[in-house]
Amino acid sequence: MNPEAHFNLELRKFAIPEVIFGVDSRFLVGNYARKLGAKKVLLVTGPHIQKLGWADDVINSLNEAGITAILFSQILPNPRDFQVMAGAKVYLENSCDSIITIGGGSVIDCAKGIGIVATNHQGILEFEGVDKVIAPMPPIICLPTTAGTSADISQFAIINNSQAKVKIAIISKAVIPDLAILDPVPLQSMSAYLTACTGIDALCHAFEAYVSNASSHITDLNSLEAIKLVVQNLKPSIENPYDIETRTKVMMGSFYAGMAFSNASLGCVHALAHSLGGYLDLPHGECNALLLPYVVAYNFDTAPYKYTEIAKIMGLPASAGIDEARSHLPKILLELNQKVGITKTLGERGVDKALAATIAEKAFLDPCNVTNPRVPTIKDLENIIIEAL
Ligand SMILES: [Fe+2]
Repeated sequence: MNPEAHFNLELRKFAIPEVIFGVDSRFLVGNYARKLGAKKVLLVTGPHIQKLGWADDVINSLNEAGITAILFSQILPNPRDFQVMAGAKVYLENSCDSIITIGGGSVIDCAKGIGIVATNHQGILEFEGVDKVIAPMPPIICLPTTAGTSADISQFAIINNSQAKVKIAIISKAVIPDLAILDPVPLQSMSAYLTACTGIDALCHAFEAYVSNASSHITDLNSLEAIKLVVQNLKPSIENPYDIETRTKVMMGSFYAGMAFSNASLGCVHALAHSLGGYLDLPHGECNALLLPYVVAYNFDTAPYKYTEIAKIMGLPASAGIDEARSHLPKILLELNQKVGITKTLGERGVDKALAATIAEKAFLDPCNVTNPRVPTIKDLENIIIEAL
């Protein structure tokens, strides 16, 4: 009998923001901002999104609703603590009353950080950990232009501590935005590599939430549906970037994965990826893609039934057993990386055995380890990195 199939009677909570999902929904942002009482918003975005014209769509919609937008776009990938503080200064100096953000996960995380600092009046690094945010953020609306991070609906904000060169995780219900507008149209302008990295990030969210020791029946449903949607549609959406149907399905997969991980939390893949990404400034999704097969191998025997279920969704026959899944699932994940164009190893991205110890020490402190089904030691984390070289 499958012991992981017992109905979970433990106490669980589930929280997400209001969500608008659909083609061209970005044009509704002015209407919804007005409903939230906005008169002068800080518009947080990135230079690339401005160049593509997606930020203009938001500005025009806001202006039509009689709302003034103050632009803040000084954001790099893997958002730094000082960028958050600079954005909060602009928010306060201009007496803004709310935040609208359009961009990828880095932009949205930075916007959330600005919101935290604007109402709590402390340095952003002081909010590291679980439930450290006291005052609610100002009203905040998120429009993601990638499909993977789910910062737009999650209880997480990830900020780079620029001095310590490590990403910190801020986890709190206070970090959930008021509204997420999920429009698949801007996804069409993502490069193939960004599509791959963000898509595999979503897959990692679903994997880690599914085997998390804080998972529930609600998050399990979301995790499994996310895995199906991402596995079936990620490669087609890379091959046909303007096919709105596959873009929509990957975005829906990311949304499901986001609901799952925001409420069940994550595991060692993300703990290690936060440490790696902070130290080497590598793309978050790429770090996850390179680590997931090895964390699955490390975790497998603590959640064998759940991993076997995933392996069947990813191509093993319905008759496959635990032993077959144990030996095949890491290989299936490595093959998926190759298929979507993530072809380098961690070693080829600049990590070596000496660096593995440093990355593992920093990763050990990450709160994502708490919900990993197997409790890791620093040495375990170091060995996972060495396996992935
Ligand atoms: Fe992630």
